Amino acid sequence: MVTPLSGKRILLGVTGSIACYKAADLASKLRQAGAEVDVILTAAAAQFITPLTFQSVTGRRAYVDADLWGSEGHVLHINLAKEADLLVIAPATANTLAKLAHGLAENLLALAAVAAECPLLLAPAMDGGMYQHPATQANLEILRDRGAIIIGPESGHLASGLRQVGRMTEPADLLGHIRRLLARRGPLAGKRVVVSAGGTQEPLDPVRFIANRSSGKQGFALAQAALDLGAEVTLICGPSALPTPGGATRVDVRTAAEMLAAVLEHSAEADALIMAAAVADFRSAQTAEHKIKKGGEAPVIALTHTEDILKAVAAVKKENSHPAVTVGFAAESQDLLANAAKKLATKGLDFIVANDVSAADAGFEVDTNRVSLLFADGRREDLPLLGKGEVAVAILAEVVKLLGKAAE
Ligand code: CTP
Repeated sequence: MVTPLSGKRILLGVTGSIACYKAADLASKLRQAGAEVDVILTAAAAQFITPLTFQSVTGRRAYVDADLWGSEGHVLHINLAKEADLLVIAPATANTLAKLAHGLAENLLALAAVAAECPLLLAPAMDGGMYQHPATQANLEILRDRGAIIIGPESGHLASGLRQVGRMTEPADLLGHIRRLLARRGPLAGKRVVVSAGGTQEPLDPVRFIANRSSGKQGFALAQAALDLGAEVTLICGPSALPTPGGATRVDVRTAAEMLAAVLEHSAEADALIMAAAVADFRSAQTAEHKIKKGGEAPVIALTHTEDILKAVAAVKKENSHPAVTVGFAAESQDLLANAAKKLATKGLDFIVANDVSAADAGFEVDTNRVSLLFADGRREDLPLLGKGEVAVAILAEVVKLLGKAAE
């Protein structure tokens, strides 16, 4: 699948911290996301981890200071820097930050950093006291003012045994930031996209609730696809253990009423809303204050309707014309296209994603989906069986087109 990292050259600088082991994971994740990763280790980093580790995960040579004096040495740092779309230094020690802040170019990595014209992302890692030191803080300020993007460090357990601010940001989060940085000029740059995901839960009593089988996978994939096009993304989700796509603002909700409030709030200024959430249509008319006991007669639980969120959004849109584009999903187990067409019209959507949730390889919980897109202008597009990430990319491509038309 194409990602903002596909075919991009990332120069990864690794400096001497115990967090070096995480750098190998980061290099691997960058490679898996489609990037070509060149690694430069400082002498201190090479004490913690070997170039071979990086070569094994990137499939490319990893460089150390000795290479500076080799046959290609006189241009190596220039070439590595010039070819890079992004220079990432993770972990970045206090020593390396000081070198970068003052333009000292006394090892291969620092030389490449001075020669590089691409954006610079730094993930500091060090002892808490070293991080707080005025010299380190001043160096970070200089680098920030110069345009470097500094991610972390985080608070947590450090090599000293203390819990302080100094831990390198986790590779998965760094990957999210890198992905976002490379997507910053995408077709949705400056656009606000709200995505709802997952299922809601309607409580019956303090321990029980009515839920549904939605996993949130399709919604989370939509959020990632929107981020990959440069959008600012708000992901409103029902209870889910899925990791938040890096760069998205996550709003956790539980009930349909909470989702209604969150969607109305965030879509009031959004350019696009994609309602992938499986919102409960019914809730218990009365939530029991205490656990319903099993003794006596089995309880009859009266249900009442929840509010239709998309219809509420359509009503608000009449007043303030936001969101410019609204996309819904139709989860159906029969009469897929007819039911989806009805929802497209009654919910005032630009298009609807019709989803046969009775198929084993599509819909809830699985990683694949087979959907048809039904547009307000009568067009229909049937997509083949695809991964949920690919479905998300196809949906976002339509959103980009519609936003383009809305702006004409
Ligand atoms: N939806 C909504 N508010 C609700 C229920 C659903 O906004 N209270 C949205 C869903 O997020 C989805 C679309 O409406 O984008 C269609 O949801 P679906 O469950 O397929 O249909 P319903 O409108 O709930 O109708 P039915 O259950 O009768 O099929």
